[in-house]
Amino acid sequence: MGIKQIIAIASAKGGVGKSTVCANLALHFSKSFNVGILDADIYGPNQHILFDLLNEKPEVQMLDGKKTFIPVKIGNISINSMGFILDSDKAAMWRGPMLSGAIKQLKDLTQWGDLDYLFIDMPPGTGDAYLTIAKDIKPNFAILVTSMSILAVNDTIKSKVMFDRLKIPLLGLIDNMSYSICPHTDERINEFDLINLQQEIGLDVLGSIPRDKDLTNFNSKKIHPSFQSIYNNVLNLL
Ligand SMILES: Nc1ncnc2c1ncn2[C@@H]1O[C@H](COP(=O)(O)OP(=O)(O)OP(=O)(O)O)[C@@H](O)[C@H]1O
Ligand SMILES: [Mg+2]
Repeated sequence: MGIKQIIAIASAKGGVGKSTVCANLALHFSKSFNVGILDADIYGPNQHILFDLLNEKPEVQMLDGKKTFIPVKIGNISINSMGFILDSDKAAMWRGPMLSGAIKQLKDLTQWGDLDYLFIDMPPGTGDAYLTIAKDIKPNFAILVTSMSILAVNDTIKSKVMFDRLKIPLLGLIDNMSYSICPHTDERINEFDLINLQQEIGLDVLGSIPRDKDLTNFNSKKIHPSFQSIYNNVLNLL
């Protein structure tokens, strides 16, 4: 069977919540499916930190003379990340081609087993990592994460153009951290002037996630309620 579908969680803008969305969506999907996470952010891998796996390492197994990795399992999620394998200070100095090679190897040399969905936590930007992933990993779909900040919207438009050029279908946008909920009145507090993201970026909005301390402190044992409708919307499109 192998990997049925690969979904990249992306945005050109840094810090908009790609890794947080990737971890939460994967967690939600793992309740009904076999799921994998490939942390492709070689310069700043985060998934091993989010899932509290700082002391874990994927087991190395020789297969047909090649070094392969058994991903770290947490519940129904198989995770592999450069964060397990690499000294992050060294990776920070890598040039583009080394970076691209590393992402491809991480994907190819991991024994993922049978997965329904492999989620890729993409680095920020639009450079080498994106070209490698489009050419060598060939995601079936991508989801863009943005907020209503005009800077994020601008970068997300660039991401859309790039994915269109790379011919990777976009499932839509996830609007993250554009508002928070007042703990006293349950009122919605907008962080930015409201923007019609669908109109501005030209993609459907799969859902909006508030800025919430429970999301900053990701808990791999608890599904955050704001991901329920996003999970349903994404599943309907796959
Ligand atoms: N909805 C949210 N509510 C509260 N905190 C959030 C939310 N989404 C993300 N964060 C926090 O915002 C910061 C940036 O999120 P995250 O690392 O997921 O973004 P990113 O797009 O993956 O960043 P990078 O571009 O560096 O990879 C983190 O501290 C994270 O915990
Ligand atoms: Mg990230």
